Amino acid sequence: MMPSQHEIPERLNLLQRIWYSIFPDAHKAQKERRDYLRLLNTLVLHFRPKVVQERTLRFNLTWGLGGMALVLVCLLFATGMMLKFAYQPVPDRAYESVVQLQDDVLFGQLVRNIHHWSANILLIVVFLHFLRVFFTGAFHSPRQFNWIIGLTMFLAILGSNFTGYLLPWDQLAFWAVTICTGMMEYIPGVGEGLQQLILGGRDIGPSTLSNFFAIHTAVIPACLIVLMPFHFWRVRKAGGLVVPRPPAENPSTKGEMVATIPNLILRELAVAAVLIALIMLVSIVFDASLGVKANPGLSPNPTKAPWYFAGMQELLLHIHPLFAVVVIPLTIVGALIFLPYFRYEANTGGVWFVSYRGRQMAVVAAVTATVATSLGIIVDEFLIDFVAWIPAIPPVVSNGLLPAAIALAAVVGFYVLIKRIYNATNNEAIQAAFVLLLCSFLVLTIIGIWFRGKGMALVLPWQFGISG
Ligand code: HEM
Repeated sequence: MMPSQHEIPERLNLLQRIWYSIFPDAHKAQKERRDYLRLLNTLVLHFRPKVVQERTLRFNLTWGLGGMALVLVCLLFATGMMLKFAYQPVPDRAYESVVQLQDDVLFGQLVRNIHHWSANILLIVVFLHFLRVFFTGAFHSPRQFNWIIGLTMFLAILGSNFTGYLLPWDQLAFWAVTICTGMMEYIPGVGEGLQQLILGGRDIGPSTLSNFFAIHTAVIPACLIVLMPFHFWRVRKAGGLVVPRPPAENPSTKGEMVATIPNLILRELAVAAVLIALIMLVSIVFDASLGVKANPGLSPNPTKAPWYFAGMQELLLHIHPLFAVVVIPLTIVGALIFLPYFRYEANTGGVWFVSYRGRQMAVVAAVTATVATSLGIIVDEFLIDFVAWIPAIPPVVSNGLLPAAIALAAVVGFYVLIKRIYNATNNEAIQAAFVLLLCSFLVLTIIGIWFRGKGMALVLPWQFGISG
């Protein structure tokens, strides 16, 4: 006979019997919980494979960065939707609506802070994820296409940060966006048209704000919603995360497989929990900045681009804009897109820094780039003036083509030299050239953010505090 609902099952221990006597329906609830859990597991397994290779669970293979990016995007979507209830995308009301959100709406400031910090940290996390993918060789076949999807998402996230930057409509936002959109003029042929299309006219105004708002809250989120699942599906299609290939003499060797639930899911949840706690902490302690309302008639001094474009702004101080904002960035993006399709001697997917020699060469490249770029900036600031020295030729040649050609010759020279000195493979030498460019870019960014004062003059470390 079936036990009645209020009978205490025999197999229970003392504590459980007491529990049941207080809550006679508990066994029903437990069964329901089991059913829910089964349902949840089935749901999770729609997105995740049932089993994964145990060695892909090692934290130092991925540092959890891709998962962190996903968590941050979710936080941004959630808080962005909340902000939409308060924000008004017209110049007369935008700034005031942000102030009102902060002052009068319960947790308004906190929601804005979470959105602000998640967006900035997302850029750093995605950049680090991109570096980890590069340095573990995860762009080699069969992951080439996922590398390109990743690059597209990187550009989308840059665009999202940039369009969001204008929305508070304060001085910082207004002038930073003025500087950046001004750079577009230098794109030959289409520059001015493109600039007007984005600004919605000749100057920043109501149309610019509504364009930026639409791109920020609809176009880019829609792109990410399509691209992210595609990206994850490609990871699965490639057979999971990158791990070193099995030795040629035993190609069927596969590492031990373990169940995704709980092994992978628990790790992912732990990373997500720590990250969310960190974002909450930062958002409670530090408020997102909001200066005075935008004043189109008064530019601050210095007027700086957002931190992620500081490297490009620094480059602009040294080299003709056509090269600083068009030729060099496009060449680098093009090289990154084609990176998986270069000729390599081996598929070194899953091996950090290609090899021990690759690691040594990367260190040499990092030191060379840091020293050479810092010296180059100082020398250019105080000693070199190609335009004055060679007035007979147009500045786009003397201050654009010439320095760009010198820089290109330096990178090619470095590549050839280091390859010969270390008797290195293509994989190792390409990685060294990548590190060279990466570190130069980081030095430019650091100088742009911290070492430029009034009138964008160079502030040397011992001058800190003297010039604003
Ligand atoms: C919103 C931005 C991004 C999100 C949410 C994201 C998310 C992820 C996740 C969750 C993974 C699985 C493993 C891991 O945590 O590393 C992954 C792998 C991968 N990602 Fe991304 N990613 C983003 C941007 C990028 C970028 C910028 C690139 C490179 C240009 C990239 C290229 C790749 C590749 C090639 C893999 C496969 C790596 C492997 O097999 O080890 N992703 N991504």
